[in-house]
Amino acid sequence: MTNALSILNETGFVLDAETDADVPAREALLDRAMGEGRRRKSSEKLRRGRLPSAGLAFVARDGAGRVIGSVRLWDVACGDCPALLLGPLAVDPSVAGQGIGSALMRHALARAAELGHGAVILVGDAPYYARFGFSTAATGGVMMPGPVERDRLLGLEFRPGSLDGAHGLLVARGRRAERASGSSGGRKAASAVDRLTRVA
Ligand SMILES: CC(C)(COP(=O)(O)OP(=O)(O)OC[C@H]1O[C@@H](n2cnc3c(N)ncnc32)[C@H](O)[C@@H]1OP(=O)(O)O)[C@@H](O)C(=O)NCCC(=O)NCCS
Repeated sequence: MTNALSILNETGFVLDAETDADVPAREALLDRAMGEGRRRKSSEKLRRGRLPSAGLAFVARDGAGRVIGSVRLWDVACGDCPALLLGPLAVDPSVAGQGIGSALMRHALARAAELGHGAVILVGDAPYYARFGFSTAATGGVMMPGPVERDRLLGLEFRPGSLDGAHGLLVARGRRAERASGSSGGRKAASAVDRLTRVA
């Protein structure tokens, strides 16, 4: 077994921990898949200036090693409840519908549960995320730091009751990205940490 997960399957992709070298390709992918508006999302306020939760930034690569999918999870809290915020999840439009998004989701959620996290929150399309167990059942008291459609504010508890006290404003509690003159400083710091927690 190498660092990459052994799921180079018939569709020809592998899941891997994100590294420093992946950052430009990941950002280009997010722009392609989500457009410029991605930077104005309420969730972005909880990510800006922070590093992803340790060991929870993943990419999907094609057979040539190119980044074709991305997902990250971030440390947040709501009231008394620590949780993870998932996102953005994106797959290159050229390879949509081949199970890459689902594979990234299932792997990221499994790793988060293994690492002992209790719950995950995200803003997204319920018809897509319901297949992974997400619903609005436990997010009724959660407030985002910006506009959000309530039926897109979804939660998943790994341990039942993990979001029982989730009432109030969702706040970032992740490791701060290193302040740098350029925007790559934080990215380098994030990647350095995540390299240490690469998928085994
Ligand atoms: C959403 C996204 C990550 C899915 O990735 P993917 O690799 O194409 O997804 P999968 O192949 O694992 O799953 C495809 C299935 O999801 C469904 N699906 C995809 N996007 C959906 C959506 N927004 N709502 C409901 N269902 C959706 C497809 O219809 C397909 O259904 P089927 O299995 O019944 O045929 C990808 O389309 C993407 O990057 N979109 C742009 C960015 C984005 O919207 N991110 C999520 C924010 S909500």
